[in-house]
Amino acid sequence: MVEIGKDIYKASDFLFLDDVVAIPTETVYGLAANALSEIAVNKVFSVKGRPKFNPLIVHISGAEVLHLYVKQIPDVAKLLIKHFWPGPMTLLLPKKPIISDLITAGLPNVAIRVPNHVLTLELINNLPFPIVAPSANPFGYISPTSAEHVAKQLGETIPYILDGGSCSKGLESTVIGFEEDIPVIYRLGTITAEEINAVCGKLKIAEKESQTIKGPGMLKQHYSPYTQFIISDNIEKTILNYNPSEIGIITLSKKLDSIPCENQFVLSEKRDLAEAAQNLYRALHHLDNLQLKVIITEPMPDENLGRTINDRINRAAAKFYE
Ligand code: TXA
Ligand code: MG
Repeated sequence: MVEIGKDIYKASDFLFLDDVVAIPTETVYGLAANALSEIAVNKVFSVKGRPKFNPLIVHISGAEVLHLYVKQIPDVAKLLIKHFWPGPMTLLLPKKPIISDLITAGLPNVAIRVPNHVLTLELINNLPFPIVAPSANPFGYISPTSAEHVAKQLGETIPYILDGGSCSKGLESTVIGFEEDIPVIYRLGTITAEEINAVCGKLKIAEKESQTIKGPGMLKQHYSPYTQFIISDNIEKTILNYNPSEIGIITLSKKLDSIPCENQFVLSEKRDLAEAAQNLYRALHHLDNLQLKVIITEPMPDENLGRTINDRINRAAAKFYE
């Protein structure tokens, strides 16, 4: 059975042995391994059940070591780094040969970021290599935002979970590439389009189809619970199709009288989107464990973090609409 603890030296011992351990970040927990060891990186793909055509994010200790792994850093990337690292922003930059094709799925760019979590920064600072870390969920399932979520999903397959508490942001990092000096968002995330625009004054959002590496089919399996999950503009009406005891509800702020209290999850009573983002995956994990027939949620205001939350709930629901 997996051990859960706060010992960065224990975590680093496993990493030196090419093992995979779970680590906390401010966004979600990651499945970490030595980025410079092909054996270790291969283990990440197999533990996660992830297809090799879906590349991994490299996590480094600070912007000062970025040049070791990438060939060029556009000025606009430097500006973003100044504002948002350490933090939930992943940059796509041309890789140096030290980064293997296995990590980037043969693509010329590597995805790279500096996570903002005390324990994990301390861990990476003490390692002589960077780490790869995809979200620590089995491929296609909801990302974990606590050590318990990881233990439930991957407890049988990894030796150690570094417990850094609940993730403060709760949604994955924003993935940004560059066309000349224009930032292009490939995955909406915790740093919002509005925040990037405020810093750079320019920005593109990639078409949905090009946000995936090898075609839109992959999107549909992402971030999903096992329980049927649907999005409704009119929850009061939708619940009439089900027995109240079989329904789980996730709303931004309102509670419904007709549904058992314990099957409802309010993301933020004060309608704060940052708090809602922090709670979304926790709500999904919690309700998915209750063996209900359906989980129903509502669209969030489509701006700032609401846009990222809508992206994730749409992906989570997509497979149930096929
Ligand atoms: O917040 C996060 O980013 C978390 C924490 C653990 O850091 N990590 C995470 O990793 O979400 P993952 O593997 O679950 O998602 C990485 C995303 C995927 O959509 C992947 O396709 C994209 O980044 N990606 C990775 N490398 C890429 C590359 N070289 N080019 C384009 N997209 C890339
Ligand atoms: Mg993921």
